Amino acid sequence: MQKGVLFFLILFFIFIIAADAAQRGNQENGRRLYQSFCTQCHGIKGDGSGRKGDALDTRPADHTNKEAMSKRTDAELYGIIWYGGKNTSLSELMPSWRNALKEDDVWDIISYIRILCNCNGGGAEKK
Ligand code: HEC
Repeated sequence: MQKGVLFFLILFFIFIIAADAAQRGNQENGRRLYQSFCTQCHGIKGDGSGRKGDALDTRPADHTNKEAMSKRTDAELYGIIWYGGKNTSLSELMPSWRNALKEDDVWDIISYIRILCNCNGGGAEKK
């Protein structure tokens, strides 16, 4: 095999391994953040059964509801999490996270929510 070809093959595999690691890292970071910030309302399993949620007038969304969650694009989820329910025609009981989280963190959380619902957003993808 020519040296040049071998070189490109090696580069290619390094790229694949790195991309795969990045993907898992994101979801892992998303899971960690979700457990810290979201489960008190949305529940440990993300099914909307959080302890704090019991006391709210509007039930926190069930993120394991595949049908409902596949109707939301990633961009919509981003908007709701970033700006909160009040600014996106939902209940103001869903807080805005733009002062607590970084943009990348929100995308990581969305990739974790996509695991919870076992669905994808159909429309717009993560930019
Ligand atoms: C204080 C309780 C509370 C916390 C904490 C909370 N939420 Fe919510 N969330 C709600 C409520 C209540 C709703 C339902 C709003 C409605 O249906 O009008 C909601 C709705 C949502 C929705 C909209 C789902 C849909 O498609 O309608 C998303 C997405 C969401 N929350 C994500 C999150 C994320 C991510 C976190 C953590 C960073 C979080 N929430 C933390 C209470 C909370």
